[in-house]
Amino acid sequence: MSSLQGKVIVLTGGAGGIGEATARMAREQGASVVITDLEAAPVEALADSLGDRAIGLAVDVSKREDNRRMVAAAVEQFGRLDAVFLNAGIEGEVGPFDSRSDQAWEKVFAVNVDGVRFGVEEALPALRNSGGGSIVITSSVAGLRGAAGLSPYVSSKHAVMGMMRCLAAELGPEGIRVNTLNPGPVDNRMMRSIEDQSSPGHGEEVHKAFSARIPLGRYVTNDECAAMAVFLFSDASGGCNGNSYLVDGGYCAH
Ligand SMILES: NC(=O)c1ccc[n+]([C@@H]2O[C@H](COP(=O)([O-])OP(=O)(O)OC[C@H]3O[C@@H](n4cnc5c(N)ncnc54)[C@H](O)[C@@H]3O)[C@@H](O)[C@H]2O)c1
Repeated sequence: MSSLQGKVIVLTGGAGGIGEATARMAREQGASVVITDLEAAPVEALADSLGDRAIGLAVDVSKREDNRRMVAAAVEQFGRLDAVFLNAGIEGEVGPFDSRSDQAWEKVFAVNVDGVRFGVEEALPALRNSGGGSIVITSSVAGLRGAAGLSPYVSSKHAVMGMMRCLAAELGPEGIRVNTLNPGPVDNRMMRSIEDQSSPGHGEEVHKAFSARIPLGRYVTNDECAAMAVFLFSDASGGCNGNSYLVDGGYCAH
């Protein structure tokens, strides 16, 4: 079992399925956590339920200044920074490649790509001050495979794979490890949205079709994704750098 005793971690998308599960699991394993999302209320309530080594903060990852505030909060409140979970993301609209508006592409890239870039850039000074650390970026099986109807999302999740590989090569010598978590379909809000957009009124059928493509025969859970993120934060994953870590029930095996 990995332990996060003494580590300070900031998380984005902390009010969502994977983010909330990861915040809870990281706290249970002894980490101090700064939990962030667009709205303050849900992350403040989550932090309150996790005791005095957790704080909640409203952060829009697409704004550099908000990322700076998030890192400053970790250092001011808990004295250091050891790991960053750049997990906030949006699925955007589902539809054919040439039917997407410029605004639709820009919105997905502002959150899923610029949000990760700002998070890394703002966290680096604090991670260097700690003598190293772990950056975990939530990509997806959509960072490794195409999917009809999801071009902005798929393109954004491929983009952060490239970012992760460059960062791993650059930052490895400083003891800062960079990896991606690549979930397959997760049993939570985002997949419900993709299912309903793919076939309005028939989301359940899309769910069944997706599940049938997964060797385990089901979507993965928020907790299964959180367990991988927590492992990647921990010293138990000290040799892991520059790679993608799938939690996909075998989706990419065939
Ligand atoms: N759900 C899946 O099937 C699935 C599969 C693969 C990858 N992912 C990725 O996992 C990550 C977490 O998603 P989830 O599954 O928990 O879905 P989710 O929708 O429950 O959580 C995403 C969270 O990100 C937050 N967010 C959106 N825009 C933001 C912004 N500008 N600033 C800050 N926060 C913002 C949302 O408020 C939400 O709480 C995302 O990056 C997603 O793309 C999800």
